[in-house]
Amino acid sequence: MKAAVITKFGAPSVLKIQDWPEPTPQKGEVKIRVKAIGLNFADVMARVGLYPGIPKPPFVPGIEVSGIVTKVGENVRKWRHGDRVIAFTQLGGYAEYAVVKQELLFPLPKRMSFEEGATFSVAYLTAYHGLVTLGHVHRGDKLLIHAAAGGVGIAATQMAKHLGAEVFATASSSEKLEIARSHGATHLINYQTEDFEEVILKKTNGYGIDVVLDSVGGRVFKKGWRILAPMGRYVLYGFAAVSGKSTYSKLKALREVLSTPILFPHSLLSRNVSLSCFNIYFLTNKTEYFRNTLRLILDWQANGIVKPVLGARYPLSKIAEAQAFMQSRMSIGKIVITLD
Ligand SMILES: NC(=O)c1ccc[n+]([C@@H]2O[C@H](COP(=O)([O-])OP(=O)(O)OC[C@H]3O[C@@H](n4cnc5c(N)ncnc54)[C@H](OP(=O)(O)O)[C@@H]3O)[C@@H](O)[C@H]2O)c1
Repeated sequence: MKAAVITKFGAPSVLKIQDWPEPTPQKGEVKIRVKAIGLNFADVMARVGLYPGIPKPPFVPGIEVSGIVTKVGENVRKWRHGDRVIAFTQLGGYAEYAVVKQELLFPLPKRMSFEEGATFSVAYLTAYHGLVTLGHVHRGDKLLIHAAAGGVGIAATQMAKHLGAEVFATASSSEKLEIARSHGATHLINYQTEDFEEVILKKTNGYGIDVVLDSVGGRVFKKGWRILAPMGRYVLYGFAAVSGKSTYSKLKALREVLSTPILFPHSLLSRNVSLSCFNIYFLTNKTEYFRNTLRLILDWQANGIVKPVLGARYPLSKIAEAQAFMQSRMSIGKIVITLD
């Protein structure tokens, strides 16, 4: 089968389309013919060698896809040949066929396209886990969302609107901020031209922010942490700051890591603030939580509360371009890779 392989860590050009052995489903696994792949920033981090737990190249990345079941392994009762599914592949999704643990498969809702299905689970599960499970967002909370026009950013903004939070959105262009506004953000901050810390303190008369959703880290973390109000919840779920716009610079990454403040538990105590960090990738063994949460969010999707936003589309043969586009910070919504 054809697959997009990370041949070594580096620039987008290290991604090559190659012939790769077709996987065979083992006990409890399901094989699917991949129809669409959801691109995630995690894939970029895997390509530059910064994602925790990834194998040494060559390997096939890709954590979420949609497709059609072609074969089931031993002990698989629920899934049959021909089922249309959403799959959390963990790795191996950038290929014509993928093998998935049966508990990480979900039926593709009838009204969802393969493209929507492939780009849904990671963004919405991440947004829900950050906002609801860890951030405890309540009606009226002041919520700061960074990268608000990206895949997770739009998902979080839609959910925050439903939950009644007042959203302060940051992004790198006015076009992106308009998108954030259209999904429910009230305060729009272009961090290329404004300092979000100053703007928020001014707009809130010095109060600050109740919940921060931060996927950037580094200096962004430093500023956001400073403006966390009493009882504030800071949720850190990414470190895009280390990645660079096109290539990865060790020096820039080190600068960002070093600009992260060192925190002592007693200082959190006296400020009455909390810090939560998570990676959804390592939560898939919490099967019940994972499945119940995705079921709830799919219900929200069916009722129009959240709606996936598809951005650029690329065929698998142009995967390197697609990743370069995501890393360039130009992308809006979810980038989808189509097969056929
Ligand atoms: N922990 C988890 O379980 C989990 C799960 C999913 C995603 N994430 C993280 O959430 C973030 C968003 O993921 P996504 O897949 O939805 O991607 P995305 O938001 O569609 O794209 C990344 C966006 O991050 C912003 N950004 C800020 N600094 C950047 C930098 N140095 N290099 C590149 N982009 C930068 C850019 O938006 P602006 O130009 O508007 O700033 C860019 O468009 C990523 O950091 C990802 O690692 C974490």
